[in-house]
Amino acid sequence: MLTLDRKQLADHIKASVSVVDVVNRYVKLSKSGNNHKGLCPFHNEATPSFLVSEDKGIYKCFGCGEGGDAISFLSKMEGISYSEALVRLADHAGVDQKMLQHMQGSKAHYSFEKEFALLKFAQGFYQYYLLNTAEGKIACDYLAGRGITKEIIEQFNIGLAPRDGNLLIKALASNGHSFEVAKHAGLIGQNENGDYYGRFRSRIMFGVTNEQGNVVGFSGRIYLSDDPTEAKYVNSPESNVFQKSRLIYHLHEAKKTARVTGKIVMFEGFLDVIAAHKAGVSEAVATMGTALTGEHVNVLSRHVREVILAFDGDKAGLAATAKAIPLLLASGLQVSIVLIPDGLDPDDYVKQKGVDAFRQLIKNPLGAIDFQYEYLKQGLLLETTDGKLEFERRLIAFGNGLPDRSLGQALLRKLKDELYVKQQRNWNAHEKQQEGLYRRPTYHQSTMITPRLEVMSGEVKAEKELIYYMLLDRQVFEWVLVQIGTAFNIDVYRKIVQAIEAYYFENKVMNQTEFLNQLDPQMMRVTQDIIYELKNRPQRWSHEMIMELIDKVQKGALKLAHAGKKELFYEASHEQQLAMMGELTAGLVH
Ligand code: UTP
Ligand code: MN
Repeated sequence: MLTLDRKQLADHIKASVSVVDVVNRYVKLSKSGNNHKGLCPFHNEATPSFLVSEDKGIYKCFGCGEGGDAISFLSKMEGISYSEALVRLADHAGVDQKMLQHMQGSKAHYSFEKEFALLKFAQGFYQYYLLNTAEGKIACDYLAGRGITKEIIEQFNIGLAPRDGNLLIKALASNGHSFEVAKHAGLIGQNENGDYYGRFRSRIMFGVTNEQGNVVGFSGRIYLSDDPTEAKYVNSPESNVFQKSRLIYHLHEAKKTARVTGKIVMFEGFLDVIAAHKAGVSEAVATMGTALTGEHVNVLSRHVREVILAFDGDKAGLAATAKAIPLLLASGLQVSIVLIPDGLDPDDYVKQKGVDAFRQLIKNPLGAIDFQYEYLKQGLLLETTDGKLEFERRLIAFGNGLPDRSLGQALLRKLKDELYVKQQRNWNAHEKQQEGLYRRPTYHQSTMITPRLEVMSGEVKAEKELIYYMLLDRQVFEWVLVQIGTAFNIDVYRKIVQAIEAYYFENKVMNQTEFLNQLDPQMMRVTQDIIYELKNRPQRWSHEMIMELIDKVQKGALKLAHAGKKELFYEASHEQQLAMMGELTAGLVH
């Protein structure tokens, strides 16, 4: 058999994988002459100084000096050893596993050899016990009832942990396996007397493989009772080979199809993966019953461009979907969603509706953005201003986490079209009905804000908050000036911002009293009012927070443009409110 030493293997890999391809999974690259260019992932920068050369097979950052080849890049990005990165890329480059096993000096590969051998042995033991004993017959009947045939049992490494925990211990001993290793792998435990016992008993054992196809642990399901006090599944404990935050069930098999289709379908449970597989969806995987992590996402993005989420159709499944979407999108993956109807899980759905209906579902997924938009609406009263603002806040937060800023903007446009335009129509009707009330407001009314202003109230608040922070910190002022200048929508607020600009032009630091004394009486009162109203606000601010406020002000401008107005005269209403405040607080202030 052909064997390679590490150097030869590294050369072989560097020749067969594209460094641009590898880097591209982490860094958005664009062509620049003979090279590719992007923002360096090793330091923070705003203009790209990170270059990748396909011809030379290397990358180099002229900002921070980092440089190397595809293997060292992967090792740095994933925080793994050079050898482990080598093994991963070898896998990606289609290097035969047998060849890898003969690779010299790869610590990453050799250190788990004993564990892998023992786990493989245990898997064989469990499967033999399932298929060849009276106890196993009962478990097989249970599995048959769930549509799991002998063929599937073999294909999916399914077995049975005997009721008698000593059987595994005996088998391990007579085959020369170390109890220490078995204990470390979580198959056996040791009591105070030092006696060993089998950790899994009377459970159907689903062997879990890593990406290379080695059995690294088990998940054991109860099958004799449905005792709710007993855990339905017990997993192997975390170890250096079994890490739930990284492992993806069935990926070793699924990636073969995924490589061709460019997609992977992610389910919640093993039984769903098996059901999907039976329905001909072989690029099916699942997490180990945990929420999707960034590490899972990194693994997935090494294999595919698109992930289809097909979680259970219940509340928990929807919530898990909504949580997974931003993570996946942030890594540049395409995401679509399969909603399983009637709150069913995929396994039950296949059972009830058949294989064809299931395949049809998987073929027609929903866009993740559309899903998220609907999901974020949940639980909000969109007829109310509070509800709309909260929805908007959620959409902005979601949009800010996306690599493509235009997606977030598209969401806000959708919100505007759907909520405000529709709402405006309602208001017009409402306004007619209550003409007197809105046309001639009196100080005794409890609501003095006109409907149109209510539509704007989020933006009005944002303008006030920005002024508040500009008066506290010159940096906020500079930030705002760069982003939108003095283009505030409320007439009097814009004048205040202009005054702030003039003040900071002459003074480095804000002295609020001095500033207020320069203003005309009306502007002074409005400014004082803002300071008073927001005085309990935390003085600390973040760039995200200021950006969000600026976004709102800009959106307000859009709305006004839409309404054919250039600015809003807020004074009248403001004066009214001041007057009301005056009445209410008479005797309290001063
Ligand atoms: P489910 O309860 O949906 O299980 O949990 P399932 O795979 O559909 O199995 P059946 O149909 O009830 O037999 C989904 C996943 O959550 C993890 C497992 O990984 C399971 O596949 N899980 C669930 C646990 O780890 N422990 C549990 O007690 C339950
Ligand atoms: Mn389930």
